[in-house]
Amino acid sequence: MASAQAASAPLAGRRILLGITGSIAAYKAAMLCRLLKTAGAEVRVVMTPLAKQFITPLTMATLSKNPILVEFFNPENGAWNSHVSLGEWADCYLIAPATANTLAKMATGVADNLLLTTYLSARCPVVVAPAMDLDMYAHPATQQNLRTLAGRGVRIVEPAEGELASGLTGKGRMAEPAEIAGFVADLLDEKKKTLAGKRLIVTAGATIEAIDPVRFISNHSSGKMGYAIAGELAARGASVTLVSGRTALPVPPGVDRVDVLSADDMYEATVKAFDEADGAVMCAAVADYTPETVSDTKLKKGDGELFIRLRRTRDIAAELGSRKGNRLLVGFALETNDEEAHAQLKLEKKNFDFIVLNSLRDAGAGFRGDTNKVTLIDRSGREELPLMSKREVAARIADRIEHLFTR
Ligand code: C5P
Repeated sequence: MASAQAASAPLAGRRILLGITGSIAAYKAAMLCRLLKTAGAEVRVVMTPLAKQFITPLTMATLSKNPILVEFFNPENGAWNSHVSLGEWADCYLIAPATANTLAKMATGVADNLLLTTYLSARCPVVVAPAMDLDMYAHPATQQNLRTLAGRGVRIVEPAEGELASGLTGKGRMAEPAEIAGFVADLLDEKKKTLAGKRLIVTAGATIEAIDPVRFISNHSSGKMGYAIAGELAARGASVTLVSGRTALPVPPGVDRVDVLSADDMYEATVKAFDEADGAVMCAAVADYTPETVSDTKLKKGDGELFIRLRRTRDIAAELGSRKGNRLLVGFALETNDEEAHAQLKLEKKNFDFIVLNSLRDAGAGFRGDTNKVTLIDRSGREELPLMSKREVAARIADRIEHLFTR
């Protein structure tokens, strides 16, 4: 009975502040509001002045059963609409539809209406559902703003491809109300926080080994797999420290990122964080060799050959493996030949609980892409997964981690 009620009212007792901006998709906010209410949420609505032209405050007040907030104060009696208390009231601030204009203002901290001042003072999770014409959405300025916001923890419900108000067809149409309501319900679902209370480290990306102030040795790792894992673990409630080599990726929501450059920097940051951690996922592509000396000045070319002497770096995973105790340690192996045998050796040598093997021989696996094809190997066997998105691979790895914690 209780679970049937939870299924029909996944947002029971939750307080959602619904922000509506001036897009034609604002008409869908009526349905969204109804869905949130049906799911059990209490809803208050804040609108930008332009949003009122697209959907009336009367409609939204009737559906939300609360007065609509647009201005900083009520012009009739001077009552102040406090953006601070609105932000404090909400368990989630959902801005849907979010126009290119509002996203740009959020990214730069402009606070010229109540919806935006509330954003700046909100401490709760913020979700945006962009809605705009395809070219506005694809514009580098909008994309940059979305990355900036994602990097600050704002969750984005991606727009869909489809027919747009302009008559053009493309990506920019606001996600459907049911998808947005489901996204918010998932975000606030405490039962999905299966890793709450766990402190986990994820290493990700490539390290950079300086030769001189201009050149370096590195590799093709994009960091995407590690970032997906960090995001997935954080979404399940873990407190995640992401020790990251250089990448252009945004920090996943709820993740604490520590930026490093060289293998030595990564070693120091990871070993230090491990003292307090319950486990670590070693996803970074760490250089095995680094120049023995780094020139202070740019090396000049000469007539002959140039030899750079390299020394071994320290193996971070092996170090954590040696001091692991009953903590959890997950490794990666990227191989080009004799894949399984090499992965097995690493599993033992570095004392991993399991290892994620990807082979560069598999199409769709490895660097830069958004997909991966992996085999999970532990001491009791192997599980070969089909080609899937890096997000799905991250979810499968997180499932295993969860399982290991409940042993
Ligand atoms: O031995 P190999 O470098 O192939 O092992 C790969 C695994 O070890 C990965 O999990 C990688 O993140 C980790 N590793 C590390 N420190 C190094 C080298 C590899 O943590 N110096």
